[in-house]
Amino acid sequence: MTHQHNEAPETAVRPTDWWRDAVIYQIYPRSFADGNGDGMGDLPGIRGRLAHLRDLGVDAVWLSPFYASPQADAGYDVADYRAVDPLFGTLADAEAVIREAHDQGLRIIIDIVPNHCSDQHAWFRRAVAEGPGSVLRERFHFRKGRGDNGELPPSDWESVFGGPAWTRLPDGEWYLHLFAPEQPDFNWDHPAVQDEFRSILRFWLDLGVDGFRVDVAHGMVKAPGLPDIGHGEQARLIGSQILPFFDQDGVHAVYRSWRAILDEYPGQRIGVAEAWAPTLDRLARYVRPDELHQGFNFHYLGTDWDAGALRAAVDASLSALGAVGAPATWVLSNHDVVRHRTRLGGGLDRARAATLLMLALPGSAYLYQGEELGLPEVTDLPAEVRQDPSFFRDSGQDGLRDGCRVPLPWSGTEPPYGFGAGDTWLPQPDDWATLTVQAQTGDPASTLELYRSALGLRRTHPGLGAGDTVEWLDDAPDGVLAFRRPGGLVCTVNTTDAPARLSVPGRPLLTSGRQLPLLDGDFILPADTTIWWEE
Ligand code: NOJ
Repeated sequence: MTHQHNEAPETAVRPTDWWRDAVIYQIYPRSFADGNGDGMGDLPGIRGRLAHLRDLGVDAVWLSPFYASPQADAGYDVADYRAVDPLFGTLADAEAVIREAHDQGLRIIIDIVPNHCSDQHAWFRRAVAEGPGSVLRERFHFRKGRGDNGELPPSDWESVFGGPAWTRLPDGEWYLHLFAPEQPDFNWDHPAVQDEFRSILRFWLDLGVDGFRVDVAHGMVKAPGLPDIGHGEQARLIGSQILPFFDQDGVHAVYRSWRAILDEYPGQRIGVAEAWAPTLDRLARYVRPDELHQGFNFHYLGTDWDAGALRAAVDASLSALGAVGAPATWVLSNHDVVRHRTRLGGGLDRARAATLLMLALPGSAYLYQGEELGLPEVTDLPAEVRQDPSFFRDSGQDGLRDGCRVPLPWSGTEPPYGFGAGDTWLPQPDDWATLTVQAQTGDPASTLELYRSALGLRRTHPGLGAGDTVEWLDDAPDGVLAFRRPGGLVCTVNTTDAPARLSVPGRPLLTSGRQLPLLDGDFILPADTTIWWEE
């Protein structure tokens, strides 16, 4: 069968495609809410806090993994894809979260981790136990080593977390793990692996999930022969070029097969790719009409707070994704990156301005738990409390992912701020009393109320999220972005650290700043501020 992948979809965009402009909130279960008081967030905790998400006004929730796992990488090392880890509750709890979220009008997306499993997964345990020659080893990447006695790894590939991507077993064979040694990579050329994941998708679709966030969606398929790369510092190349283990063309056949399954189910079940593709055109390949629905736009996430750079990133994104008929999928924060309040370097004002800019763009947007509270990155966690596996391996990722994973503050004036009881799995700062949901609720100047207002307007205003273009207004001063959206919505963004004077584009609807500006033909747009207007 011939696929015309680069063409726009034949069918017109259906206005009922809920996901095209959905605002989707990422729950990191360990750190959202703790129902049983063990200091670790869990599914009962999520059930108890669904009203927060309903009141916030998001359309859907993405849950990071809660599967049975030894937690070598905070649950991204899955031992059983059909079981819930006791840390997080039971399968009945998961079903209750899905059911009760639906009752609140929230869709539920769960994480699927197909590139690798846990070294405690039944297949891998048996493969190890049975020794060289075991047919189960064919479901992973086992190889003999190089060197006179097989003492050198089979290829020069490095783990994303640092160090070699190969670990040697006592029986002499090596196995591949692009992440931690506790996360062996599956061999996606093996039919049993392909069948197993189709079955896992159906298991969760039958339980009612509305879609999957696909972990390492650019991984899975490896170049034949697992060829050497030839130079070091590979972790730094990820996302900037095609590697023999990332963004291989063969991975797209997997998504075409998954899309067929998703489409069998009613209600538009979706897939969202976590694909660190080297270019936006390569990212767009994951969201062709017969593949996944969305792909996180990490190019935008990595763009500096600079008007020219942001405008170029928006244009390039809309052009590349529009060419395949897919919506843009914006994101500023998640559990792997420094929170945008801290990363963008301009504190809370800039973070709020960046959020209103993102929410004015066409397409879908993902929020990461706690950004609606304006949480900063926690940058002073002592080494002894850190849990991110990359912290303990050198020369890989920066090892600083714990600082965005600190449990949420809900209420009260001291840790655990209503998160649960007792010590939280990562300690919370002493100065978060003013950042709790309770403290911010009802305060019109709070970041929580800003998010609630913005998401409320997104639901009612036809221009927000809709369509796939922005109309830039070119009379804006240097460092200011101004653009029009359908329905007469205008967005003005001052990325500079000085106030800017602009002509009034209409009636102000919402500002990321502290108060709406005085209007006198012109108005002053403060530094690091976004304002939404209605013409
Ligand atoms: C991406 C996930 O978001 C990250 O947290 C994880 O460590 C890696 N994939 C490996 O699964």
